[in-house]
Amino acid sequence: MKSLLTMEQLSKNELFDILNVASELKSEQKAGKKHEKRLDGMTLGMIFQKSSTRTRVSFEVGMQQLGGYPLFLSGNDLQLGRGESIKDTARVFGRYLDGIMIRTFKQSDVEDLAKYSGLPIINGLTDYCHPCQVLADLLTVKEHKGGFDGLKACYIGDGNNMANSLIVGCLLSGMSFSLATPEAYKPCEHIMRFGESYGDKFSWSTDIFEAADKADVIFTDVWASMGQEGEAEIRKKAFAGYCVDRKLLGVANKNCMLQHCLPAHKGEEIAEDVFEEHANEIFDEAENRLHAQKAVMWLCMHKD
Ligand code: CP
Ligand code: NVA
Repeated sequence: MKSLLTMEQLSKNELFDILNVASELKSEQKAGKKHEKRLDGMTLGMIFQKSSTRTRVSFEVGMQQLGGYPLFLSGNDLQLGRGESIKDTARVFGRYLDGIMIRTFKQSDVEDLAKYSGLPIINGLTDYCHPCQVLADLLTVKEHKGGFDGLKACYIGDGNNMANSLIVGCLLSGMSFSLATPEAYKPCEHIMRFGESYGDKFSWSTDIFEAADKADVIFTDVWASMGQEGEAEIRKKAFAGYCVDRKLLGVANKNCMLQHCLPAHKGEEIAEDVFEEHANEIFDEAENRLHAQKAVMWLCMHKD
């Protein structure tokens, strides 16, 4: 694997390789051991054209722990923010850096960065997908449930970047997947087709109780993503009732996990009481961003 641009580029073997490396690096860190400095002398440029707490800090800390140097690049400070093209920016960065993590709007910008820089590129979120987050989510499910086979994953809310990557990642892992979104907010067409290719292991509904029935893990995310702030009021109306709360958890399996990529809008997509009851799982998920990120950099950026 040279780059991580989307979830659907991964084979099942590649997915499990990343999760295994992440688990090994996590165990090593928990045991107080130092990692091999596999990225010694390397620089990762981190372009952010949207806000971030977890992605920025986990990549920055992870890169440093692997012996490399993380270079934070705010989209507004780069000439990119004044209209310089991705194609030219990529050709410049290809001469300075050893890899790039980018958080931006258009998926095509991530693809162009890979095409024109020649560097390993890691997608830190676009409007289309959020593969790094879903790797951390799967690592958390694996730790809490001991594996994936026979489990039912469920997603409630907007058919957004998280939904697109969760459908692919959960099905690839071996779990079945059901989601509930309003009719007008389904995941994108080809991701729906990807899901449908898994036959009765995949289902979509507008009914949250149908989707959550006998679920082993429920995922949710905000109703309005970054860049959609202007639609917040319309979305509040469209998503009314798409809330993970105690009543919904009542139809799920006993010991059903709850996952939220964060930040959360408590009282909208998730009730505060269930958020707090499942805080351990949700903050394990946040912690696992660090371990998953290190695994992705470990596998994409090394030169041997
Ligand atoms: N979940 C996630 O990507 O968090 P940040 O937006 O804080 O990076
Ligand atoms: N769907 C959210 C995820 C944030 C991590 C967004 O894109 O804003």
